[in-house]
Amino acid sequence: MSIDGSKLTIVGAGAVGTSAAHWAVSRKVAKEIVLLDVVEGIPQGKALDISQSAPLCGYHGSVIGTCNYKDTAGSDVVIVTAGLARKPGMSRDDLLAKNVEIVKQVTENIVANSPDAVIIVVTNPIDAMVYTVFKVSGFPKNRVVGMAGVLDSARYRTFLAQALGVAPKDVTALVMGIHGDNMLPLTRLASVGGVPVEELLSKEELAKIVKRTQTGGGEIVQHLKTGSAFTTPGLCAIEMAQAILFDEKRVLPCAAYLEGEFDINGVFLGVPVVLGKEGVERIVQFSLTQEERLALEKSVEAVKRQVDATGL
Ligand code: LAC
Repeated sequence: MSIDGSKLTIVGAGAVGTSAAHWAVSRKVAKEIVLLDVVEGIPQGKALDISQSAPLCGYHGSVIGTCNYKDTAGSDVVIVTAGLARKPGMSRDDLLAKNVEIVKQVTENIVANSPDAVIIVVTNPIDAMVYTVFKVSGFPKNRVVGMAGVLDSARYRTFLAQALGVAPKDVTALVMGIHGDNMLPLTRLASVGGVPVEELLSKEELAKIVKRTQTGGGEIVQHLKTGSAFTTPGLCAIEMAQAILFDEKRVLPCAAYLEGEFDINGVFLGVPVVLGKEGVERIVQFSLTQEERLALEKSVEAVKRQVDATGL
């Protein structure tokens, strides 16, 4: 495992982009880390701040802040966080029209400078923004992927661990579908140390945890009032970038382009994928119950409505 030669660009130096840059340095995922934003001074200042953590975290690469896409040239992975964030009372869909314009421009610049990159899309509404990047870039489907399931599953695992009074890392759980209230936390497959959680928690407790997971992003927006979650979203993007840069073949839930998998066609949706140097190397398919299938179909309908609204 080596970071030599690898280059990671993060577009958008807002809260999530800055968090991603911070985690990228602390995890030493790339030799060059570039933080780009359109607002002069912000990426430069933030990159300088983050680069000064290098002696403490043992990072020996470079961190550059820039407004110029030329500095991003030849990136192996580009994380797109650019766009507006949610305010209280706003759904992720409310952001769509504004962010689609931003993401289109960002994509054109990425393609011009890093034609071989894998693009990880974080901008909300993720399932529509990842579709926008896919259409505008013309990249093959394996090189465009959305971050959502890693975050939603992390929330689900955290809430399950709290209810069980156990170490969060020992909880394994999968959230599929849209990054929105119709997401599908799969209780049937959640386990702790290999033991199904359905044997350890009541139906009522599990239903509450599922609901809290589905509205987990909104819960944070309610508290913050002026923005949405950023620390864990930034880490989740880096978890995915690391899997790609280090060719780890991690199995992570990500928004991937489906062409018949799970009997779904022509949309990006959160499903378990194998992430390695080619990006989405494989979609891991398995049988769903009738109830799960119906829930996933609701997700698909919601994503299709978002995609229609992009006008692409
Ligand atoms: C959230 C935002 C990032 O779920 O969508 O917190």
